[in-house]
Amino acid sequence: MHKSVQDIVNMKKDGKKISVITSYDYTLASLCDKAGIDILLVGDSAGMVMLGYENTIPVTMEHMCMFTESVSKARETALLVADLPFMSYQASIDDAIRNSGRLIKAGADAVKLEGGSVMAETINSIVDVGIPVMGHIGLQPQTTMLFQGYKVQGKTKDTALKLIQDAKALEEAGVFSIVLEMISHEVAEIISENVSIPTIGIGSGIRCSGQVLVVQDLLGMYDKIKPKFVKRYMNLSEDILKSIGNYKKDVESGTFPSQENWFSMDKEELDKLRSEIGN
Ligand code: KIV
Repeated sequence: MHKSVQDIVNMKKDGKKISVITSYDYTLASLCDKAGIDILLVGDSAGMVMLGYENTIPVTMEHMCMFTESVSKARETALLVADLPFMSYQASIDDAIRNSGRLIKAGADAVKLEGGSVMAETINSIVDVGIPVMGHIGLQPQTTMLFQGYKVQGKTKDTALKLIQDAKALEEAGVFSIVLEMISHEVAEIISENVSIPTIGIGSGIRCSGQVLVVQDLLGMYDKIKPKFVKRYMNLSEDILKSIGNYKKDVESGTFPSQENWFSMDKEELDKLRSEIGN
């Protein structure tokens, strides 16, 4: 039995911190789920860490459905949330509902979309058809290139007020939780105290109800950028590079494979074969 949206909402009420990690593939998702992570987020950060794009803009519904299917086969206990990619929900409410439905059919329990009060009507319509929604305010990677740039949000009174209003508008629209990305920790704390739903921080300080990191960042597998808010728990790229280098050396020197890695015929069958082919 996996966690429900209500279980996540109750965690805030019970004063329990919520752990969230991004997942895109079966193998890593199984490990995250076994480790007891509360929410697996199929983020559109897949565009960078899985598909090698510069940003999340090129990510399609087809990509997100494929990643969601793989993760859904792996998860046993976590809640599974999937991102609606750029332009899958902005053009019309019909698009937003239909594409949310596609992610649910692919195995998600809820969808996430970026935007503040401007998205309230869309969120309300998705929730109305029975699909739980996670909001996402602060730095919004899908539009950051166009407007904000990669910088901390909510550093002035006016931008902070707007973020607080956005969070309240999303709560009213029916989201079950909100990601707060790269918001000054003071504003993230004020938002967390002023909404009843959980806030999930990324680069937004300790007072959020939970935290999210991109799995490749925390495992030290993605070196292109290293934001200040990332904590690396290991340096997996180093171990992977070493292991693959050792494999290459073994292949070249003929020390791999060895007897324990290959399969044999019965001696009698082999003798018969040799005599038949005169070898
Ligand atoms: O796409 C993503 O990975 C995200 C999280 C970092 C919040 O939206």
